[in-house]
Amino acid sequence: MSQLNLDFLRRSFPALGGSQVFLDNAGGSQVARQVADRLTEYLFTANVQLGASYPASVKAGEMVHAGRSALATLFNASRPEEVVMGATTTQLLGQLAQALSQDWGPGDEVIVTNFDHEANIGPWTKLAGKGIVIREWKMRPGEHVPNLDDLAALLSDKTKLLAVTHASNIYGTINPVREMADLVHKAGALICVDGVAFAPHRAIDVQALDCDFYAFSVYKTYGPHFAALYGRYDALLAAGNINHRFFTRAKVPQKMEPGNASYELAYSCLGVIDYLEAFAQAHGINSEGRAAVEAAFGLIADHEEALSGRLLSYLRGRPDLTIVGAEVADKARRVPTISFAIHGRSSREVVEAVDPTGLGIRYGDFYSRGLVDDLGLDNPDGVIRVSAVHYNTIDEIDRLIAALEAA
Ligand SMILES: Cc1ncc(COP(=O)(O)O)c(C=O)c1O
Repeated sequence: MSQLNLDFLRRSFPALGGSQVFLDNAGGSQVARQVADRLTEYLFTANVQLGASYPASVKAGEMVHAGRSALATLFNASRPEEVVMGATTTQLLGQLAQALSQDWGPGDEVIVTNFDHEANIGPWTKLAGKGIVIREWKMRPGEHVPNLDDLAALLSDKTKLLAVTHASNIYGTINPVREMADLVHKAGALICVDGVAFAPHRAIDVQALDCDFYAFSVYKTYGPHFAALYGRYDALLAAGNINHRFFTRAKVPQKMEPGNASYELAYSCLGVIDYLEAFAQAHGINSEGRAAVEAAFGLIADHEEALSGRLLSYLRGRPDLTIVGAEVADKARRVPTISFAIHGRSSREVVEAVDPTGLGIRYGDFYSRGLVDDLGLDNPDGVIRVSAVHYNTIDEIDRLIAALEAA
């Protein structure tokens, strides 16, 4: 079983010092101290408009660029210009749909899934209004990883894009994005990946995945309330302009950032790298930048597997509930976002019984409404979801198990 440095984690996340236990991290994670430090640094030393020639403005521009570069490191993008910054993943995917669809017309096709969060469905299905044909890739009943043959059957020379999630925010399973990308590219189409439920748990590698677009929410990945969209440079270059009318398509990525992203939040993303470097160091690994990101997430995966293992072995032992997702803790197959439904019990009632114990969990459909509807649960409140991250402990999971037993 993995042992993370608890003192380091408590120092890095001041919020962990309170009485609330955070097990709703897929909703939003706690923020690392380094992120708050970077935020303050920007506001107190560089809070001017970018783009002027005076020194403070030049410095502010460099700091925002450093934030963009930090996000490029998290994506493993080949250059910072491949990163589009914005307030939320929902907004960024909406902007992407707007930009790409400028070149699409009636009869062109887009594939969405029944297992994505609505953020990567709605922007695409709305294009039906312009005559774009929407196809749906459905998860087979009882399975937790989508079937690639079913995808192949949906692809055609009319397909423009597949919108798909890297990890389900309900099942917690990790999907085979590289295999999907290969199929989609063979059909001459693009792939847009929602990495929101994956990014807090494993190192993203857009180059290894060979995806065209990939988005995640920094506020669920130990950073500020902010989001980032990776676009392969030539794919971004080809996309339409959604910014001011006099911006050209060559203005990558600013043509995709109408009104600019928040400067201070952009800069504070550098704090996520600071944190992961400090995390690696606190566990005996001296590395920087991308190497530190990979080393840190390697340790994180081991610890998360132990957390998943503890909770899943309890849940597997209860005959009166259904685990909604993979029943195995294997770090290659899932992240520690674990959902279940108790037969004949309202999910809301169970969560509300746990609330007073100080353990924050949650019930609902988590905006993956298609997936929860298709599960056919006899529970109007959806599933109970426990979403851990690396700063959670085995002790917290044991406390949760005791609270669930009492409930
Ligand atoms: C899997 C997934 N995708 C997308 C989103 C939307 O993220 P944002 O709040 O940044 O729009 C969420 C938010 O919960 C999510 O869980």
